[in-house]
Amino acid sequence: MRLHASPSLIALSAAPLVVNSLQLPFGIDIQLPAALDNHINSIKSSISQIQVPAFINKIIDPTGSSPLLSLHRDLVAIPSVSGDEEHVARFLSSYLASKNFKVELIPVESPEYPKKRFNVFAYPEGGSRSAPILLTSHIDTVPPFIPYKDGLRTVYGRGSCDAKASVASQIIAVEELLAQKHITEDTVSLLFVVGEETNGDGMRHMNTLNMRWDAVIFGEPTELKLAVGHKGLAMLEVEAKGRASHSGYPNLGINANSHLINALYKLDNLKLPSSDLLGNTTLNIGLMNGGVAANVIPAFAKAEVAIRIAAKHFTDVKVLVEDALKGIEGVEATWKQPHYDPVFCDHDIEGFETIATSYGTDIPNLNGQHKKYLYGPGSILVAHGDNEKIDKSDLYEAVKGYKRLVRGILNAKAIVVADPAKSSETATPSVEVVVEPSVQVVEVKVEKVEIPEVPVKKVESKSDEEQVEYVTILPVDAVYD
Ligand SMILES: *[C@@H]1O[C@H](CO)[C@@H](O)[C@H](O)[C@H]1NC(C)=O
Repeated sequence: MRLHASPSLIALSAAPLVVNSLQLPFGIDIQLPAALDNHINSIKSSISQIQVPAFINKIIDPTGSSPLLSLHRDLVAIPSVSGDEEHVARFLSSYLASKNFKVELIPVESPEYPKKRFNVFAYPEGGSRSAPILLTSHIDTVPPFIPYKDGLRTVYGRGSCDAKASVASQIIAVEELLAQKHITEDTVSLLFVVGEETNGDGMRHMNTLNMRWDAVIFGEPTELKLAVGHKGLAMLEVEAKGRASHSGYPNLGINANSHLINALYKLDNLKLPSSDLLGNTTLNIGLMNGGVAANVIPAFAKAEVAIRIAAKHFTDVKVLVEDALKGIEGVEATWKQPHYDPVFCDHDIEGFETIATSYGTDIPNLNGQHKKYLYGPGSILVAHGDNEKIDKSDLYEAVKGYKRLVRGILNAKAIVVADPAKSSETATPSVEVVVEPSVQVVEVKVEKVEIPEVPVKKVESKSDEEQVEYVTILPVDAVYD
């Protein structure tokens, strides 16, 4: 149904507005009852078809009237569990095309995923496919899909944090940098890949395309801090073999559980290397399995161990683990694939707090000599849970953060923006040539960390609970009577 705007309808929609919740001093989101929520949504959607002044729109539909929040909403609303990323890729492609980007949908084929899948690569119209700075993140999510839900100050849904928050804020950051002429069209490109949550096939596919960048900004939840790096990962399977027998006659059998316990005790107490930057190497005995019943000597036992590596290389830990297990009878340890070395990131841009993370990213999957930055909104602690969420204020902060990173990279490292007219050198991958003529160094001062704006009104509260920055105004009861 299409509503026609009439003065009385506008009056109806605008006049009976009350402040439903100005300050929530305890950082709690009010969860409206579903019936009320639906009612409000239907009112919102009716109202959205009426031409109303922009300021009213901002009040009644804060998400729809924000380019950032609405892009984020549209991304989260599309299910894109790894292997099933076609729809979100096509959505992004048309979104970016509508914002004057040249877009390439790059097919990614994997035997384990039969559906069509695409990486989305884009650069500003009039720019260059070989722009020196790449902003990248991933469009796949872990399962299961969780629908988008708009709270007062927080957004819920699968991928709302990991990593569609990064995707949306990277795109808006680039749009703003271009609009404000802080960068030229040939400075940055965008890449959103499939398969990050599983085997990294989307990012690894990029290695076959003969592309290179000077600096790559990877978007993952880092709590708006610049990552110094992340730990490596190795997974170990420890198996013990014995011989079954009646528990009353243990001398006739060989107890596989006992062997496994010996091995795991050694591993659990192993002194593993640590690093100033990444912290301690940690070892988790995550799964144990052995035996069939209390009165049977177990013939077989098995454990799975994950090691988060803070040494320089996987091999530093591998040697220690294999040494520890050497003397132990009856066990066999196998390293499982995939494992990856610790990743050390560049963090030479001022104005950011730093963080060491303990989760895997696509960083090791992209070959090349580029500088590597890792930054994004949200916390990994909620990323894969059933309550995945992101604060709206974090999305806005991330846009500022990505802009600062791009400008900081340009400023600090005097990155050369290649002249598209002289694109002959783009074909040859990175020989260390100092390019003189087409240097375009954008001189910007690295800004200080910006502190979120103080809320309009302050509530006196005894505790130091955080202040709410979002004000939502909802229609009064009279409207739904
Ligand atoms: C690293 O291990 C040491 C010794 O086991 C411990 O005292 C320290 O708190 C650990 N550091 C971190 C960051 O967990």
